[in-house]
Amino acid sequence: MERTLVLIKPDAIANNHIGDIIKHYEGKGFKIAAMKLMKMTKEIAAKHYAEHIGKPFYNDLVEFMTADPLVAMVLTGENVIARVREVNGATNPEKAAEGTIRKLYADSVTKNAVHASDSPENAKREISIFFSEIEIVG
Ligand code: RTP
Ligand code: MG
Repeated sequence: MERTLVLIKPDAIANNHIGDIIKHYEGKGFKIAAMKLMKMTKEIAAKHYAEHIGKPFYNDLVEFMTADPLVAMVLTGENVIARVREVNGATNPEKAAEGTIRKLYADSVTKNAVHASDSPENAKREISIFFSEIEIVG
């Protein structure tokens, strides 16, 4: 059984879409193994987004992600890493397929409602930034 890290980003929290987004994941059969409402610090952002440091969008991304609360969760299921990214849709909501979370709820490329890990290595790394092993059920 695979694990992935999902963040419901501050724009989706502000737009009252926590429940809507969780409903998409539960509807696909994924299980929630950990979940918390929290604020991302600059330190957490630098760890989580290490691969993006120095890119043109990095400062705007960190500013946005650290300004307001987000929901962090661990989802589990068969092939959950790839499948959650399909449910989330393309990074740019204008290019996201119909019915995806970003098509339905994202505001812009930066404020795009959700994050999900993109590989088993990043899933393991990202989960450990947000949760200790005893906080994860399953
Ligand atoms: P995520 O990490 O959030 O699941 O999204 P992703 O893999 O589809 O996108 P990634 O390339 O990892 O970028 C991380 C986040 O940075 C913001 N971004 N802004 N303005 C831009 O060109 C731009 N490109 C990326 C988005 O919030 C993206 O989700
Ligand atoms: Mg990414």
